[in-house]
Amino acid sequence: MNTLAIIGAQWGDEGKGKITDYLAKQADYVVRYQGGNNAGHTIKFGGKTHALHLVPSGIFQADTKNILANGMVIDPVALCDELALIESHGFSTDTLHLSDRAHIVMPYHRSLDGMYESFKKEKVGTTAKGIGPAYSDKTLRRSVRVHTYIDETRLRLHLKENLPHVNALLKQHGFKSYDVETLIEESRPGRERLKSYVSDTSLILNEALNEHRTVLFEGAQGTMLCMDHGTYPFVTASSPTAAGIPLGAGVPPRSINRVLGIVKAYTTRVGGGPFPTEIEGDTANTIRKRGNEYGTTTGRPRRIGWLDAVQLKHSCRVNGFTGIALTLFDVLSSLDSLKIATAYSLDGKTIRSMPADPADLARVIPIYETLPGFKDDISKVRSFSDLPKDAKTYIEKIEALLDVPVQIFSVGPSREETVVRANPYKTGGDGND
Ligand code: IMP
Repeated sequence: MNTLAIIGAQWGDEGKGKITDYLAKQADYVVRYQGGNNAGHTIKFGGKTHALHLVPSGIFQADTKNILANGMVIDPVALCDELALIESHGFSTDTLHLSDRAHIVMPYHRSLDGMYESFKKEKVGTTAKGIGPAYSDKTLRRSVRVHTYIDETRLRLHLKENLPHVNALLKQHGFKSYDVETLIEESRPGRERLKSYVSDTSLILNEALNEHRTVLFEGAQGTMLCMDHGTYPFVTASSPTAAGIPLGAGVPPRSINRVLGIVKAYTTRVGGGPFPTEIEGDTANTIRKRGNEYGTTTGRPRRIGWLDAVQLKHSCRVNGFTGIALTLFDVLSSLDSLKIATAYSLDGKTIRSMPADPADLARVIPIYETLPGFKDDISKVRSFSDLPKDAKTYIEKIEALLDVPVQIFSVGPSREETVVRANPYKTGGDGND
C-alpha cells in the first residue's frame, strides 16, 4: 500500500493546500475526509492563485481522482460555486466523487451557528459556515445525508419530520425559521448539479488500495482544532488528525502508511482560544504582512506567535508523524532572532505537555530557546545545503526537538518554491509497508 496523510500540526492554515498540490502529482487519489467549507486552501501556480474550500487539492492534476468522503459536511451551494469556478479556469471536475454518506450543511445550520455563538461569553470565533451545527445534527441523528438530499421525496419527508424541531429552537431565540417547500425549491438546482458525482467512496477507495494505487489523505484545519485532542472548546467539530481518516474515509486504520505533519515555521491561529506563544507588535505585524496571514475563508487577520515545540510534540504524539513539511520558512528571513518554546511555566512549575483546561493553557508562560535569525532571502534556495547557516540550524533544532525529519521545506508560495529532502511517500517511520 502506498498512502500518505497530510495533517495540519498546529491550528490550521499551515499551508497544507500547497503541499497537497505538490504531492498530488504522485497520487492517484486525493481524499478530503473531515470538515467542510470552513477550510481554505490556497494554491498558486502558473501565476494564478486558486482558493479551494471543499474540493481536494488534487483537482488541478488531470489524472488524479478527488474524493469528498463520508466524514465531511457538504454545503451544496458552496460546492456548486466552487465547481463552477474550477471549470471557469479550464479544469475538469469529472474526476470528483462525492460520498453518498457525507452529511449536508443546510441553510439553517448557518443560522444555528450564529445563534450558538451568540450564547457564548467567550466566542469560539467560528467561520459561521454552519459546520458545528451540521455535525451536531449528525450526532443527534437528524441530519440530511447526500443520498437523502438528492432524492426530493425523501428530502421532503425528512424535512417535514425534523425541521419543526430546528424552527422551534430558532424561533425561541428570535432567529428566522425555515419552510420545507422553500428549502426544496431553492436546493433543486444544486441537487441536480451534484447527482452525477455521488458514489460509494469507501468502495472506490478500498478498491484503489487493493490495486496498490497511491492515495493522499488531505486533512483540513489542524490538530489543535480537533474535537478530542485540540484546545476544546475552541475547536472545530471534526477530527483533523490522522485518526480521523479511517472513520471519515471508510478505509482500514492499517491503510495509513505515512503521516506528514505540516508545520508552519511560526504559529498562527484564527478565532478565539488560548495561544501560549502569541506575540503582538512589530514582529507579529511583519510576519502577518510577509506571510499574508489573513483567513482564506473569512478574511480575518490571523493571530501570530513563535513556534511552540510543546504544542508540536502533542501533535506528533497524537498523529505519529513520520515526516514534517516546514512551510512559510521564507517569511522568517530578516528577523534578528527566532524563538521556539521548549517548555511552559505554570504556577512556578516547568511543564512539558499542554494542560487540558483552556484557562490553564491561557496562563502558561512559554520558556523559550532563542536562535539567531537569518538575514538572506531564501526564496531562491532549492536545496538544504544552499540555506544560510542559521536557517539550517533552525531546521535542525526542530528535528532535534520533535525527533521527526523535516522532509520538505517551503520557501515561497509557488509550487517551484518547494524543497524536497526526502520523499514523504517512501521514507520516515517504519511506513507499515
Ligand atoms: P468552525 O470550524 O467554523 O466551527 O470554527 C471553529 C474554530 O476553528 C474557529 O476558531 C475557526 O477559526 C477555526 N477554523 C475552522 N476552520 C479553519 C481553518 O481552515 N483554518 C484555521 N482555523 C479554522
